[in-house]
Amino acid sequence: MISGLTIGQHTVPYPLIQGGMGVRISGANLAGHVAKAGGIGIIAAAGVGLNSPHYDGSNFFKSDLLALRDEIRMAYEIAPDGVIGVNCMVAVSNYDDIVRAACEAGAKLIISGAGLPMNLPGLTVDFPDVALVPIVSSVKAAELIARKWLKGYDRFPDAVVVEDPDTAGGHLGEKLENIGSGEYDQYETVRGVKAYFRETYQKDIPIIAAGGVWDRADLLHALEQGADGVQMASRFVCTEECDADPAFKEAYLKCQPDDIGLIMSPAGLPGRAIRGNIEQVEARDERLGTICPSGCLKRCSYKSNQERFCIVHALDRAQRGDTETGLVFCGTNAWKADKIVKVQDIFDELFGRKNGQAVNG
Ligand SMILES: Cc1cc2nc3c(=O)[nH]c(=O)nc-3n(C[C@H](O)[C@H](O)[C@H](O)COP(=O)(O)O)c2cc1C
Repeated sequence: MISGLTIGQHTVPYPLIQGGMGVRISGANLAGHVAKAGGIGIIAAAGVGLNSPHYDGSNFFKSDLLALRDEIRMAYEIAPDGVIGVNCMVAVSNYDDIVRAACEAGAKLIISGAGLPMNLPGLTVDFPDVALVPIVSSVKAAELIARKWLKGYDRFPDAVVVEDPDTAGGHLGEKLENIGSGEYDQYETVRGVKAYFRETYQKDIPIIAAGGVWDRADLLHALEQGADGVQMASRFVCTEECDADPAFKEAYLKCQPDDIGLIMSPAGLPGRAIRGNIEQVEARDERLGTICPSGCLKRCSYKSNQERFCIVHALDRAQRGDTETGLVFCGTNAWKADKIVKVQDIFDELFGRKNGQAVNG
C-alpha cells in the first residue's frame, strides 16, 4: 500500500516530491502540474530571473526575486490547492532574500541543500507554516543541522531529503574522489537519518530518498528500504510541462549511459551532467574572457580567478536550448528517457492510477 505524504502542515496524496532543477528546468509549469497530479511541486530558485522578462542584463538579484514571485503565482494558477515549494541553494549569494521572498509569495516548503542550511529557521520565523526540509548526503550532516536548529531556533526539520551522490543530478554533496567508489549506501543513510531522529529526539520525521528513482519498481524499493517518500528530478525533464527548451529534453532523449558523468563546478562541488560538451562550456567563457557577470554564488572559482566557467549562465544557456555551450545537468538515469510524456502519465505509471482512480499496492 502506497500512502500519502505529510510534511509539516502539508499533505499530498502521493509520496513524491519533484526535485528542484535549476536553472529554470523546474519552474511554474512543471511544479504546478506535479502539484496538480498529487505530488509536491518544487520550483528551483537558482538563477530564476535570468530567462524572465525582469532581467535586463544587469539586475540579476532583483530579477531573481521578481521572477520567483511570478513563478510561485503561476504554479498556484495551475494547482490552486496543490503543495508548491521552492528549492533554495545555500551556496547562492542571495540565499536569505530568496528564502524570504519564497515564503512571502506563498511557498509551502523550502527545500535547501548545496551547503548546510544552518540559518533557515531564522529566515522563516515569520512563516511558521512553511515546512523546512534540508537536503543531506550523510547522517552527520543531518545531526549538525538538527543540533543547530534545536539550540538556535527550537525547531526540527519537517522532513529530510537524503540525496545519493552516486545517482542524483546537479550539484552533489560529496567529494569528487568518493563518488562512485562503492562506499556510499543510499538506504543505509536514509535509515540512519530516520533512526537518529527517532532515537535522539523520539521524532518520526519523514525521510525522502533522492537520486536514481525512475520507475514504480524503484519507488517501491525506496519505500521498502525505509524511505517515507522519494524525490525525483531527471524523470520529469522529458515531460511536456517541463520548463526547459525542447533541445534540453532532446539531449536527455539522445544521451547514452556513458555520456553522463561528473564535472567539477566552479562552486567547488562536483556535479553530474551530460559531459560531452564540457570543453565547449569552458572554452566559451575563456574565449569571451568575461569577468563574473552576476555574482550569483558566495564562493566561486570563476568569480575569484576566472577558473572553469560561469555556472549559472552555462545552465541558463542550456535551459534556453543552447546545448552546445550550455551545461545539461542530469542524474545517472537520464539515458532511460525515450519519449516526451505528460506529468500525469508518470503519476499513472508510478501509482497505478486507472481512470483517475488510484490502484494502490
Ligand atoms: C537538471 C537538474 C537540475 C538540478 N538542480 C538542482 C537545484 O537547483 N537545487 C538542488 O538542490 N538540486 C538540484 N538538482 C537535484 C534534484 O533536485 C534531485 O535531488 C536529484 O536529481 C534526484 O535524482 P534523479 O535526478 O535521479 O531523480 C538538479 C537535478 C537535475 C537533473
